[in-house]
Amino acid sequence: MAEKNALLTLPTGETITLPIYQGSTGPDVIDVSGLLKAGYFTYDPGFMSTAATESKITYIDGDQGILLHRGYSIEDLAEKSDYLETCYLLWYGQLPSKSEKEIFVQAITRHTMLHESLAHFFDGFHHNAHPMAMMCGAVGALSAFYHDVMDMRSEREREIAAHRLIAKLPTLAAMCFKHSIGQPFMYPRNDLSYSANFLYMMFGTPCEEYVVSPAVERAMDRIFLLHADHEQNASTSTVRLAGSTGANPFACVSAGIAALWGPAHGGANEAVLIMLEEIGSIENIPEFIEKAKDPNDPFKLMGFGHRVYKNFDPRAKVMKKSCDEVLAELNVTDPRLRIAMELERIALSDAYFIERRLFPNVDFYSGIILSAIRIPTSMFTVIFAVSRTVGWISHWQEMVSSPYKIGRPRQLYTGETERPYPD
Ligand code: CMC
Repeated sequence: MAEKNALLTLPTGETITLPIYQGSTGPDVIDVSGLLKAGYFTYDPGFMSTAATESKITYIDGDQGILLHRGYSIEDLAEKSDYLETCYLLWYGQLPSKSEKEIFVQAITRHTMLHESLAHFFDGFHHNAHPMAMMCGAVGALSAFYHDVMDMRSEREREIAAHRLIAKLPTLAAMCFKHSIGQPFMYPRNDLSYSANFLYMMFGTPCEEYVVSPAVERAMDRIFLLHADHEQNASTSTVRLAGSTGANPFACVSAGIAALWGPAHGGANEAVLIMLEEIGSIENIPEFIEKAKDPNDPFKLMGFGHRVYKNFDPRAKVMKKSCDEVLAELNVTDPRLRIAMELERIALSDAYFIERRLFPNVDFYSGIILSAIRIPTSMFTVIFAVSRTVGWISHWQEMVSSPYKIGRPRQLYTGETERPYPD
């Protein structure tokens, strides 16, 4: 119940009372749903000031650079937890006990295999198809395998759908890569951890034994964990909107993957590496900074800026630390890292970036780690999609397990009014 109200005076002089809700933390929220009765819509392009839902999963304080999943900070999770435990936390709301974790890990591990027919879908893709295009198609196709048997009203069936998605996305992602290089698909290995199995399916071949390096396995797990959820971002909102129609959850996740693909969202990790390569050397940085500042040039500094964070993205801080550790542990020197660090230094001392509070985001450093562990650039966003699946499906579950309405925004119409068709 609202403890406070806002009063809105309309041009007619009539006053409308709008309830104000308080979350457990964060800004108060004005409930504008009653405005329709008075004949008004609200207008907020890009949802800059709109809370589309109530949620208990993830909290972001963009000014302070805070990210909490179910109350736990991303820094603590990155240091003390692992990806599958974070998945458990996001879905069930609590950290698991030791035995709950074992049962969960086993459930995920036993769902990693795909229906054999799914492999044939890949024959329809040209070898140079972008892996994100294949991923959208292949995940959408999963819905064909589990549609009739899925009763969304059943909590248990929703849980099984989540387990399937978390388990099968790495298998599909690795298949996208194998298809692009013409190597045989590798079946999942259930004796390996989630991350080690993914690396095995990516880089193993039937010809020789592939041993996963523990350093690479840890780095992979951390990348999955850091991308696991991020509140009501564009792809999560897409999954929720698609899900609000009652659509199959596998199809909803496929819609989320499509939304993630764009360079303003998950596609930024691929775009950052392409940009660093284009910059080429430290001397060229000022030219690119000028381009980014030019209002007539569409170029933006990829990996910089965020709709919510107006301070350092806390994930970027952990990612940078991880990046240093991984490069040291693998004894890799990447010239692009030097360019990235110098770019960051120059941008952070430039008035344009300071005034607009543009800081490096999670995607700025993730590509350098992924490159160090030999993941090709075109697979970066696919890996983001694998990681974010748990966030998408947890938000979908939160929505469909309580009463909800179909998502249906309205508009400010500025087109032609009715006019006669010419004779
Ligand atoms: N380079 C140069 N200028 C920028 C950048 C940038 N990366 N980002 C924002 N600006 C400018 C923008 O031009 C605008 O300037 P002005 O006020 O003079 O018109 C001002 O900063 C505010 O930006 P905005 O575009 O209104 O902010 P937004 O909240 O709508 O967009 C964003 C946020 C992330 C889409 C944008 O910052 C961007 O395109 N960044 C580059 C792409 C990127 O790294 N995306 C990954 C986001 S984090 C991972 C994820 O969520 O998927």
